[in-house]
Amino acid sequence: MTKTHPLSKRETSTLYRDLLAWYAEHGRTLPWRARAGEPSDPYRVLVSELMLQQTTVATVTKRFAPFMARFPTLSALAAAPLDDVLHAWQGLGYYRRARGLHACAQTVVERHGGRLPEAPAALEALPSIGPYTAAAVAAIAFDHPVLAVDANVERVLARLFAVETPLPQARAELRRRAAGLTPNERPGDSVQALMDLGASVCRPQRPACTACPLRAHCAAFRLGLADHLPAKAARGARPNRFAVAFYLVRPDGAVLFRRRPPTGLLAGLAELPSTAWTEAPPMATEIAGSAPADCRWEAVPGRVRHVFTHLVLDIELRRGELRGTTPLLEPAPLWCAPQAFDTLALPTLTRKLLAQVAGGA
Ligand code: ADE
Repeated sequence: MTKTHPLSKRETSTLYRDLLAWYAEHGRTLPWRARAGEPSDPYRVLVSELMLQQTTVATVTKRFAPFMARFPTLSALAAAPLDDVLHAWQGLGYYRRARGLHACAQTVVERHGGRLPEAPAALEALPSIGPYTAAAVAAIAFDHPVLAVDANVERVLARLFAVETPLPQARAELRRRAAGLTPNERPGDSVQALMDLGASVCRPQRPACTACPLRAHCAAFRLGLADHLPAKAARGARPNRFAVAFYLVRPDGAVLFRRRPPTGLLAGLAELPSTAWTEAPPMATEIAGSAPADCRWEAVPGRVRHVFTHLVLDIELRRGELRGTTPLLEPAPLWCAPQAFDTLALPTLTRKLLAQVAGGA
């Protein structure tokens, strides 16, 4: 059972003072962040928060500027075709966020004249904006007094208040703690400072407590528990799935793709045809039954492993060549020449498969 280690109002304001002093010196310079003393651009904050939901800061840092160059304003994004947005999202993964961001921009243009609303409740009413993103945008873009709790901030809070309940069960309690720690001055900087602290000093393993500006306020540090918190409930391993994908080349060199269904994982993206993803490696009859053409298929050496949040996929490849008389079994073929692969919105998994074929050719 977690004991309560509440902070008084006075201690809360000292805590933020210590935190902001640390942030002035150690805060990260990130491409979507306003420089000290300059106002935030709400559109940049929105885009970055959606990108950062399931992608690391390092990857978003590389992809953010090209995306902004392509869609410099919220109205430009709203007016762009969805395919262009999906294309610019390549390398970030989890394409549902790109569709959501596009829908969100269109709704902001239709309902709010192209200006993002400031209050968390109004933000949350937009497509694709959940409670976390609404809080983050409200705080960072508009200095609305609210604490956005991402995984880094969650860890800081679990240690600050020595919350011993394991995650994810502790989440509700951490939300309550966050509500009691609402920053009143400079909420945007305070939230980003907590994110940075969680990413560097209050990191998951071996937290650098001696370098921490919040050490004097931290119950876990006082109790010698920082290394052990937040506790985690035991988690099962990711299940493994297997598949065989097909690389079919037409006499003019074009390669066959198919489009994924409009909903679900990697919705609407192009991919190489494949067998279903199964619990055991597919057998020869399943492979033959899933091939997109009736031709000679040769195994491409090696295999590709792709880790999703919920499963690990191992894919082998077969390469085939279509000749004039080969029956094509794929119902809605999408042909693309290798020089034009970059114009397709392709998931990272498919890019890995194409690289494997190129490497094995
Ligand atoms: N993770 C999510 N949002 C972030 C932000 N604004 N800065 C750094 N890391 C983040």
